[in-house]
Amino acid sequence: MAEPRNRYSVVSLILHWVIAVAVLAQILLVTAHEATEGPLSREFINLHKSVGLTILVLTLARIGWRLANPAIALPATTPRWQRVFARTTHVLFYVALIVMPLTGWLASSAGGRAIVWFGLFDWPLLPMSGGREAARGFMAVHGLVVKGLYVLIGLHVIGALKHQFIDRDNVLHRMIPLIPRRP
Ligand code: HEM
Ligand code: HEM
Repeated sequence: MAEPRNRYSVVSLILHWVIAVAVLAQILLVTAHEATEGPLSREFINLHKSVGLTILVLTLARIGWRLANPAIALPATTPRWQRVFARTTHVLFYVALIVMPLTGWLASSAGGRAIVWFGLFDWPLLPMSGGREAARGFMAVHGLVVKGLYVLIGLHVIGALKHQFIDRDNVLHRMIPLIPRRP
């Protein structure tokens, strides 16, 4: 019987790791913003906004790519509930990776605060009003959803380590091809 397709495309691998690193950078940037003051602090939050909007674009591209290239199956030895659980966390990742930048963008737009993408050009603000009040509401969602994102990252990394060290299958290898493939 032909072996089912079990490789991620290079595009999927690049998008996975670029977005993963960018998400971690987001947390570091906002931490640096909160730990500093004045122009330096503003520089960090501007970078946070630019990286965040880049994540939005990359995630939309990734979803498009993912729809055109259906998911590869987890090993047949993985219990059904774990497959459903893994897929659910993946879908929630995509939701969080859209809601996070979107709420940031909505907050900046409502508050009328210009976003200059990496200092290069004005990112368009969404046509809306609401002022500081609305901006605070969007930022509250931003702060709430990120907690869910932390939970997803925790579950995801635990799942990856479980596949590698307990199930001893090739799931981690296919996302990190540098890890040797098990026979
Ligand atoms: C913020 C960080 C991360 C995010 C947002 C993220 C997101 C995702 C998403 C959405 C998928 C599903 C891909 C698909 O649609 O098929 C995925 C797959 C995967 N990720 Fe991550 N990931 C992150 C970090 C990591 C890390 C640190 C590891 C390794 C320790 C990892 C290992 C994997 C593996 C092995 C898969 C493949 C699962 C499978 O084949 O079904 N990820 N990741
Ligand atoms: C995936 C993308 C993003 C992630 C993971 C992310 C993550 C975070 C985190 C962890 C915080 C700190 C929350 C807290 O302390 O409760 C934060 C705050 C913030 N984020 Fe984002 N963010 C993203 C995108 C954006 C975007 C696109 C914008 C604006 C265009 C934005 C604007 C802000 C602002 C203004 C704050 C408040 C900073 C402060 O003054 O404390 N974020 N974000």
